[in-house]
Amino acid sequence: MLGNFMYCNPTRLYFGEDALDNLGGELKKYGKKVLLAYGGGSIKKSGLYGQVTAILKESGKEVVELPGILPNPTSDKLYEGCKAARENDVDLILAVGGGSVCDWAKAVSVGAWCKEDPWEKYYLRMEEVDNRIIPVGCVLTMAGTGSEMNGGAVITNHQQKLKIGHVFGDNVFPRFAILNPRLTFTLPRYQMVAGFYDIMNHITEQYFSGTDDNTSDYVMEGLMKSLIHSSLIALQNPEDYEARSNIMWIAAWALNTFVAKGKATDWMVHMIGQSVGAYTDATHGMTLSAVSLPYYRYLLPYGLPKFWRFAVNVWGVDPEGGSDREIAALGLGRMEAWMKELGLVMSLRELGVTEEMLEGIAQGTFIMEGGYKVLSREEVLGILKASL
Ligand code: NZQ
Ligand code: ZN
Repeated sequence: MLGNFMYCNPTRLYFGEDALDNLGGELKKYGKKVLLAYGGGSIKKSGLYGQVTAILKESGKEVVELPGILPNPTSDKLYEGCKAARENDVDLILAVGGGSVCDWAKAVSVGAWCKEDPWEKYYLRMEEVDNRIIPVGCVLTMAGTGSEMNGGAVITNHQQKLKIGHVFGDNVFPRFAILNPRLTFTLPRYQMVAGFYDIMNHITEQYFSGTDDNTSDYVMEGLMKSLIHSSLIALQNPEDYEARSNIMWIAAWALNTFVAKGKATDWMVHMIGQSVGAYTDATHGMTLSAVSLPYYRYLLPYGLPKFWRFAVNVWGVDPEGGSDREIAALGLGRMEAWMKELGLVMSLRELGVTEEMLEGIAQGTFIMEGGYKVLSREEVLGILKASL
């Protein structure tokens, strides 16, 4: 049964090949100074940088550029951004890139005018935002995280070996997001498929919780089926616009808070994956693919009816083809085959994890409640060992 909840998604989202045409109109809503944030250079290669800076110029904006926001943005980069945003008193942060740039922009949005250390206040202590927030807009170049339409901002502190996500409230969601699926065509295959698995795992993290009859589960089954279908087309032809556009739209819906409503949600694959990321700086989606099957196989007996439903409704396993347990296991087997076909990382060793790191990774994992079983630290370690 659905409990009490509030639903609000304030992000104005422009989608399609002509989506960038709307940037000028959005920019009019904000003051003169824009902090233009981007990553390691892909937007320069693709020509997007030239297009965006031309629109900023036409709009009469004064631009402060902050490049070099690399995958898994760090607390040091956050401090650099906060200083630049504050000293230039910017009116808008325009993130042009993937989830890393978008997350970083949100973290700077709340961090720039924070009187304390933003890493300590918003990440270590997870406090509510009580200071001025700088609006964020986003031009997305990678489908995966859903950061374009949510309040999440994940930051890594390498000194402390912690990667933490703070899910901020709807006043921190991007005010607008521009999604042109064609921009994702230039993604390297490794990043493309990592994004596909990130999307899948966002959905399964929410799906594998609860035992009630919940509309969100039906919506998620549809999203997963569409993702599986389109991912295989995109794998053969990365320039298939129909497939890439479906995937970009699924990514937004997988984590724009809608399907989470009325769900307890699990998130343990992400918690373990993030701790792996803090030790290895590995690509986010691959940290998830490396640990998820051992986790789900361990969880299966605790959530058997939902794993059975996943097998039958998402993977088309014959419901008469065996015992409930066998059918549920076949579903995970089909997911494994799909993951291998995509070429995902299936073990932690491939990401540079060593046996000696496992204890630290387990210690750095936040244990969440909401899934079919609350794990002990020992169980987290067991899953890590099985993922090695
Ligand atoms: O830096 P550049 O040169 O732009 O290259 C990037 C980067 O190397 C490249 N890239 C992006 N778009 C491209 C492109 N290359 C060619 N053509 C394009 N169109 O891809 C690489 C990865 O980019 P990144 O932004 O790091 O990827 P992603 O979107 O997967 O973001 C990952 C970050 O988001 C966090 C992750 O933990 C990680 O730090 N997450 C954020 C979430 C949220 N806000 O809700 C939830 C997720 O679960 C996730 O934790
Ligand atoms: Zn994710």
